[in-house]
Amino acid sequence: MCGIVGYIGEHNVEDALINGLKRLEYRGYDSAGMSLLINDKIETVKKIGKTQNLHDAVTKKYSGGKGGVCTTGIAHTRWATHGMPTEENAHPHLDMNGNFALVHNGIIENYKNLKDKLVSHGYTFKSGTDTEVIVNLIDYLYEKDFFKAVAAALKELHGTFGIAVISKRHPGNIVVARRGSPIVVGLGTNEMLVGSDVSALVAYTRRVIYLNDDDIAMVKKDDVQIYNIDEVPVTRETALVDWDPGEIEKSGYKHFMLKEIEEQPDSVRNSIRGRIDFKTGTAILQGLNITPKEVSGTTDITITACGTSYIAGLVGEYYFEDLADIPTEVAQAAEFRYRNPILKPNSLVVAISQSGETADTLAAVREAAGKGASVVSLCNVVGSTIAREAGRGVYLHAGPEISVASTKAFTCQVAVLLMMALKFGRINRLSIDAGNLIADEIESIPEMISKLLKTKSEIEKIAEKYAAAEDFFYIGRGYMYPAALEGALKLKEISYIHAEGYHAAELKHGPIALLDEKVPVVALANDIPGKDKVIGNIQECRARKSPVIAVATEGDEEIKEYVEDIIRVPKTSKYIAPILTVIALQLFAYYIADKRGRDIDKPRNLAKSVTVE
Ligand code: G6P
Repeated sequence: MCGIVGYIGEHNVEDALINGLKRLEYRGYDSAGMSLLINDKIETVKKIGKTQNLHDAVTKKYSGGKGGVCTTGIAHTRWATHGMPTEENAHPHLDMNGNFALVHNGIIENYKNLKDKLVSHGYTFKSGTDTEVIVNLIDYLYEKDFFKAVAAALKELHGTFGIAVISKRHPGNIVVARRGSPIVVGLGTNEMLVGSDVSALVAYTRRVIYLNDDDIAMVKKDDVQIYNIDEVPVTRETALVDWDPGEIEKSGYKHFMLKEIEEQPDSVRNSIRGRIDFKTGTAILQGLNITPKEVSGTTDITITACGTSYIAGLVGEYYFEDLADIPTEVAQAAEFRYRNPILKPNSLVVAISQSGETADTLAAVREAAGKGASVVSLCNVVGSTIAREAGRGVYLHAGPEISVASTKAFTCQVAVLLMMALKFGRINRLSIDAGNLIADEIESIPEMISKLLKTKSEIEKIAEKYAAAEDFFYIGRGYMYPAALEGALKLKEISYIHAEGYHAAELKHGPIALLDEKVPVVALANDIPGKDKVIGNIQECRARKSPVIAVATEGDEEIKEYVEDIIRVPKTSKYIAPILTVIALQLFAYYIADKRGRDIDKPRNLAKSVTVE
């Protein structure tokens, strides 16, 4: 979603801001803008569309120099919520008097009341955004102290925000604050950066401070002071980002998505490294910080997440029930708190989130903790809000995922869920030998993925054949049911083709009415329990003239007589099959989207990290 970057220091300010914005592009946006403090005046440039449009406009504007000293600036990529994607609505927003400029992520729920109040005091507004209310409120409350004006304004806000503010009366300062939307401060030498995400800063510094909710920081080029909303100083730890800026480059790939698909042998290897113990046939997941007694006393598990992470959770449901004997359900995070979940004293809630910032998943974590449940998180982004609030969990170590469509995070989530189920299973029911069989399989995942990736040109050929279809169904059973959902989701997200993932047996209870020769069906017919039944379901589709593309196990000759085309995956057990199958379907979706010329890394209307409800 929206992205924030701010810079204060001795380097070229607009370069730092543009560089940061470009690294935030992956989050999804529809306009961009920046404000610079030049000779104690705020100059603002905004453009709709790509950050390159902003870059070009800024380069043109300052081609003859900036006509003064500039050490401070803030910038933003906006993903429209309140008001259309226009230049007026793009950030930064200035107050009516031009004293302050502000960028904002999140949503202010009481903006209408605040706006009415400000209008009654003579304030006028140019945009349809909730953000313009915040900056005018700061101006209204200002009495010579920049920090106090921001703190006073924030006390009046209901909703979520991550903000960065500059003031023409206080050059050399950026005030940042957060409530529900991340803000990180990057500590340089004689320069400081602020951002909504570490990728905006990592080219300049790896030393960062993550703000907590209701923290307000006064950032100067050589100093950061952090206070809580009551203006009491607080101390926050400095963390070291372990990403290499090279990891967020395309490195010769046409798209980040393809790069990330191909990184999966390594990302899964990093996820499982040092976490399998063959002596005891179990997984070592220190961050879970959970005792055997706590595991054996766990009465039920609720996995909660959104999007692709939710689908990873559906695979986890099978793992926990099959291997650990613990009744498990998967709850959409957006529903979790509103349906008033029943959590018992020994319930465990597992929150899954690549970004660790998804608003609904965070709300579910808070609801579960508030109801006394134990909460653990599975996050990719180290230091993210969900990881910090859950307090314990497992990091995926997938490396930065830039493409909006999630790929390597999904496979690492599934691998981590399998390790967790192995650990819980060893405590509850599995013998050492049974545990070691699963451990062997987990260790083999990277190699199996490499083997699958070698067949990508065959998947590309099949994708080319079906690239013109306008509707697809993906069907599967058991462990392959979530894989069908994820395959369809990937195709929808990046190719904009209508695709539905369905349980293979459910198809005949309605959607089969939609099948004809123009609607291909991708049937997940891996050689694992349930395959015979899927073949029956394939025949139901063929009888309606749908062309069927099977995902089938290498060496399975029987499948040929039932289907038009076959995507092959290496032979594995049912535990690993969803990982390989989803990777094959990621490639299938990728090649179809590429044939259709889509903007694969930044699909329309989507955001990488959804920080609003
Ligand atoms: C957005 C992304 C999806 C992602 C979902 C959950 O919708 O576009 O790819 O699966 O958010 O994100 P999370 O970071 O919580 O896994």
